[in-house]
Amino acid sequence: MKIVLLGANGQVGHELARTLLPLGTVHALRHADADLTELTTLAQRVKDVRPDLIVNAAAYTAVDRAESDEATAHRVNALAVGVLADAARSAGALLVHYSTDYVFDGSGSRPWQETDPTGPQSAYGRTKLAGEAAIAASGCRALVFRTSWVHGGHGGNFIRTMLKLAAEREALSVVADQIGAPTSAELIADVTMLAIAACRQDRLDTGLYHLSAAGETSWHGLAVHAIERARRLGHPVRIDQGAIRAIATADYPTPARRPANSRLDTDMLASALGLALPEWTVHADRTVDQLIGH
Ligand SMILES: NC(=O)c1ccc[n+]([C@@H]2O[C@H](COP(=O)([O-])OP(=O)(O)OC[C@H]3O[C@@H](n4cnc5c(N)ncnc54)[C@H](OP(=O)(O)O)[C@@H]3O)[C@@H](O)[C@H]2O)c1
Repeated sequence: MKIVLLGANGQVGHELARTLLPLGTVHALRHADADLTELTTLAQRVKDVRPDLIVNAAAYTAVDRAESDEATAHRVNALAVGVLADAARSAGALLVHYSTDYVFDGSGSRPWQETDPTGPQSAYGRTKLAGEAAIAASGCRALVFRTSWVHGGHGGNFIRTMLKLAAEREALSVVADQIGAPTSAELIADVTMLAIAACRQDRLDTGLYHLSAAGETSWHGLAVHAIERARRLGHPVRIDQGAIRAIATADYPTPARRPANSRLDTDMLASALGLALPEWTVHADRTVDQLIGH
């Protein structure tokens, strides 16, 4: 099987470059190899490989920057995704793509199901939703995974930032009223590989699935968990445990609005694949260990 992987240098792409290997020949393209803003070149680049599988881990993920640059975010997260979907349909290939909890408005406290109405509150969320729509409109065979709060040992993420700040500062304020499941790039890539294999054997229908770790926490809960693990493992931590202050979203204004309720209901994917998705702490610990070199 010939596989094109876009965004191979991102958090999820980095892990996919490994987990996709048993499935076939992986053409792993980084941002410098295939720019998703160059739509014509992108289409040709993918076509040249004559792929059986296109996996798109590339995205415009700068949530706050997207508020002032929605045109570029839309080009990468929606128009380029439409190009990839059309390329998949023409080649008879399966497209695998990732979306986000930010397509929801964040109301309520129930985990969002795949069929729930969307209502993005940010430019990033709107562009990612437009990407989902482009795939649906193309009629290609696709697996789309909405995930949340991605972290890992490779690339920029919240855990990395918190460990850095904990080593530098004596106090920290972290938002405690946004709730979700931190999900590792490793877990996403592992489950993606299983899903592709199942899809090829007709054990999984194509379509849209929620994919996140089990359980829930806040950004504050994640910060405390990660920093305390690093401290226990002997990593230099300057901040006292009591000095990680829980604050409200209203006290930490950002250009983009973020959903208060980012919980995703993963029952559909877990039962279709026979998986027990691990608690968020399991992979959060793995990420901390990787980041501090434990
Ligand atoms: N990160 C999260 O918390 C989160 C949450 C929910 C869903 N998701 C979704 O999960 C997927 C993977 O996210 P991630 O966390 O792995 O993101 P990431 O680490 O930011 O990686 C995204 C990759 O896309 C590349 N990229 C950006 N603009 C590009 C362009 N114009 N052309 C080609 N490549 C481009 C980036 O390259 P450069 O770094 O070189 O620009 C980077 O390698 C995305 O679809 C994202 O929307 C992420």
